[in-house]
Amino acid sequence: MEKNTKVILDCDPGHDDAIAIILAASKVSNLKIEAITTVAGNVEVEKNTLNALKVCDIIGLDDVPVAQGSERPLVKEPEIAEEIHGETGLDGPLLPKVPSRKAMETHAVDLIIEKVLESDNDITLVPTGPLTNIAMAMIKEPKIIPKIKEIVLMGGGTFGNWSPAAEFNIYVDAEAAKVVFESGVPIKMFGLDVTHQAIATDDIVNDLSKIDNPIAEFVVELLKFFSQTYKEFFGFEGGPIHDACTVAYLIDPTIFELQHVHVDVETKGEFTYGMTSVDTLGVTKKEPNTHFAYKLDSEKFWNLLTRALESYN
Ligand code: BDR
Ligand code: CA
Repeated sequence: MEKNTKVILDCDPGHDDAIAIILAASKVSNLKIEAITTVAGNVEVEKNTLNALKVCDIIGLDDVPVAQGSERPLVKEPEIAEEIHGETGLDGPLLPKVPSRKAMETHAVDLIIEKVLESDNDITLVPTGPLTNIAMAMIKEPKIIPKIKEIVLMGGGTFGNWSPAAEFNIYVDAEAAKVVFESGVPIKMFGLDVTHQAIATDDIVNDLSKIDNPIAEFVVELLKFFSQTYKEFFGFEGGPIHDACTVAYLIDPTIFELQHVHVDVETKGEFTYGMTSVDTLGVTKKEPNTHFAYKLDSEKFWNLLTRALESYN
């Protein structure tokens, strides 16, 4: 597959972030990964960076720069999701103790600015963690704003998983999310409404475990751990592979249905901090700023992931 869609994966790996990276780097993908940047989220940024580097080692992604980013949200105190992703942020599979290379000296925010400024306005940002780095880059160098092709992000929804109203990535840094949603950059939002349709049930994990290569085995181990925490925590049938939805969309947009709507980010509410207010009925009469993904073709989604894992044979 020709790699003609340039992306920066801004992430906090994270089981589903790791699967997003693996899908993006697979042979069925049209994505050219310009950089992987990390942010504080699921666990502390240093751990997320180590995890990103280890995932790169596992899939042989040696030539993609990895840069570490923000260690805390713009305003609020950091909050992590250890109970979902474990102490390392990537508990479950056996990982190399130490990655074979280090992150760049350059800060993720500066790398994003540099890459976007140098580009022909053809870089898509794919954030799958809190939006701190993206907001910081926009604040530090506003010239990047009109040059970003689009932002395809995992976050938000019409309900929450970290509070009844707020999804984790937006809740952790709602001030950053507000900057991003108000930036004017075209946004495609893959929130809980759609990612909860990508549940790795036991049957699915069982099917994936028939793929005979070490990368598929690694993904199966990730899914087993992640699904267990979702079963215990939320009573789900398995773990939703939230972050991989963004990459799946960029590879095959026909998997999803999206609606062009206005989204605001709540930064003040006592019970609603970090909520995305998704105006699906157009009641605010505000100009749409987001393509909101609400439906996923589950068969197509799992087929794509299966083909991606088989491509590592
Ligand atoms: C999001 O939060 C994280 O735990 C996952 O990696 C995903 O990005 C889901 O709410
Ligand atoms: Ca994530």
